[in-house]
Amino acid sequence: MNIYGDYENSLHRVMDDLLQKIQNLNQDEVTHHHPKLYEHLISRVKDPDSMVEKCQRKGYPVTTQAALRQCKDAIGLRIVCNFIDDIDRCLTLLRHVDWCTIVKEKDYITNAKPNGYRSYHLILDVTTPYQDVDGAVPGHYYAEIQLRTIAMDSWASLEHEMKYKHHINNPERIGKELKRCADQLASCDVQMQTIRQLINGD
Ligand code: GTP
Ligand code: MG
Repeated sequence: MNIYGDYENSLHRVMDDLLQKIQNLNQDEVTHHHPKLYEHLISRVKDPDSMVEKCQRKGYPVTTQAALRQCKDAIGLRIVCNFIDDIDRCLTLLRHVDWCTIVKEKDYITNAKPNGYRSYHLILDVTTPYQDVDGAVPGHYYAEIQLRTIAMDSWASLEHEMKYKHHINNPERIGKELKRCADQLASCDVQMQTIRQLINGD
């Protein structure tokens, strides 16, 4: 039995339902002749061992309750968009659906992290048909959604990969170069947005 206890199957169901709901939002946009909402959409249930590690790191008890309530990213989705204004469109739609409420937002796009990381993070409280860890039906599950452009995503994957290379010679220089890359990619995103507007004639 892992840290998710009896709730592991439900976590996967909630994640799959969430994916379907977001795919439906995209389908509605396309049906209404709007550009697609995102380029791709990925999801994961945090590996149980990583969740144990996170609870320990945060000083929470290593319990199912802590994993699903104090930690709010057992379910994670990443929406990778073509353009910055697609992120805004996703946000507007998510604010108006009736199956979740947004309980926390972190705008690392307006306020990039000092290392250059950009993304818009949401914690959703999702209403589901499944029993939750408090025994309630309909159950409430948290999910973290990261919204980014393709450029922000490519930077985050490279930076993530480098974080795990511990034997690098000059981390300061590498950090500085990574930050420069992040800022250049951010300015590309703005240019791309401008190009789209020029093409659309608005
Ligand atoms: P956690 O305790 O790790 O969940 O951090 P937090 O609750 O302070 O959340 P935050 O919103 O800062 O980050 C959550 C997730 O965003 C991470 O698990 C990563 O997927 C992503 N992230 C945040 N900062 C960075 C970063 O500097 N680089 C990369 N590559 N990803 C990041
Ligand atoms: Mg987190």
